[in-house]
Amino acid sequence: MFDPKKFIEDAIKEIREQVDNKTAIIALSGGVDSSTAAVLAHKAIGKHLVAVYVDHGFMRKGEKEEVISVFRNKLGMNLVVVDARERFFKALKRVREPEQKRKIIGEEFIKVFEEEARKVGAEFLVQGTIAPDWIESMGGIKSHHNVAGLPSGMVLKLCEPLRDLYKDEVRKVARELGLPPSITERMPFPGPGLAVRVIGEVTPEKVEIVRLANAIVEEEISKAGLQPWQALACLLEGKTVGVKGDIRDYGYTIAVRAVESVDAMTANAMELPWEVLKRIQKRITREIPDVTRVLYDITDKPPATIEFE
Ligand code: XMP
Repeated sequence: MFDPKKFIEDAIKEIREQVDNKTAIIALSGGVDSSTAAVLAHKAIGKHLVAVYVDHGFMRKGEKEEVISVFRNKLGMNLVVVDARERFFKALKRVREPEQKRKIIGEEFIKVFEEEARKVGAEFLVQGTIAPDWIESMGGIKSHHNVAGLPSGMVLKLCEPLRDLYKDEVRKVARELGLPPSITERMPFPGPGLAVRVIGEVTPEKVEIVRLANAIVEEEISKAGLQPWQALACLLEGKTVGVKGDIRDYGYTIAVRAVESVDAMTANAMELPWEVLKRIQKRITREIPDVTRVLYDITDKPPATIEFE
């Protein structure tokens, strides 16, 4: 049986021994993995840990504000927030292919992060990598940028306290550490964020649409008391014909997906109640006027992956 208390004790001891009183840096996204790794490291080495939140522009609604409130204001962590939105949008201009997007976002992320690491003179890199990240990356299904590795010129030593854990175990540790439910129960979210939930070229306009749609999906599913492994909205390519009032309209299509899974390796499309789906559809088309059509994805993994890209 996995014992989160014992795990925490051992992890803190291990991090303290490894990092000693050198400076460590962590990329904090607000997801359960990086948050848990950050709190463990903070407990182990306190102010010797610098947490960096890179705002690449593809995060969910309210995510940056929450990270600041929890980690800087409540936990007193040394948190640096970098606004890198312009850099990422520029780097992704005219890029359409999913793996190309991941590669560019991963590389840009490392550049931004490396700049911060140099500024604070970090010697260690704490990462919230968990077991399935490695397994899926090795299988070559999708390149997860959080295990893409460091640029060759960088000499940071790796510290990965969660490397042997699965998601459910990470959540147990996070709850034991006293993190709020908004973080401990948070659905997984891909490192490249909303950029892989916009099919094809990523523009600020499209990201804003998909951000609002994701917030609506998450809100309605949580209001209904449902707990899928993941629920998301994806902005499809092209426009379809619709009608607003008496006028023929031409708008975007949002695909909604909710899946049940234990480790993301396989997943089943969730049978959401019709009234929840209708509420999601009504809110999306009412609150996002550019969207005229909402679809629900009923495909399992395999053959479809959880994300659309
Ligand atoms: P797929 O779409 O491959 O996703 O079925 C499996 C799980 O991994 C997440 N995912 C990612 N996570 N970087 C990440 O950190 C990525 O590039 C990435 N792509 C997918 C996905 O949200 C799901 O939980």
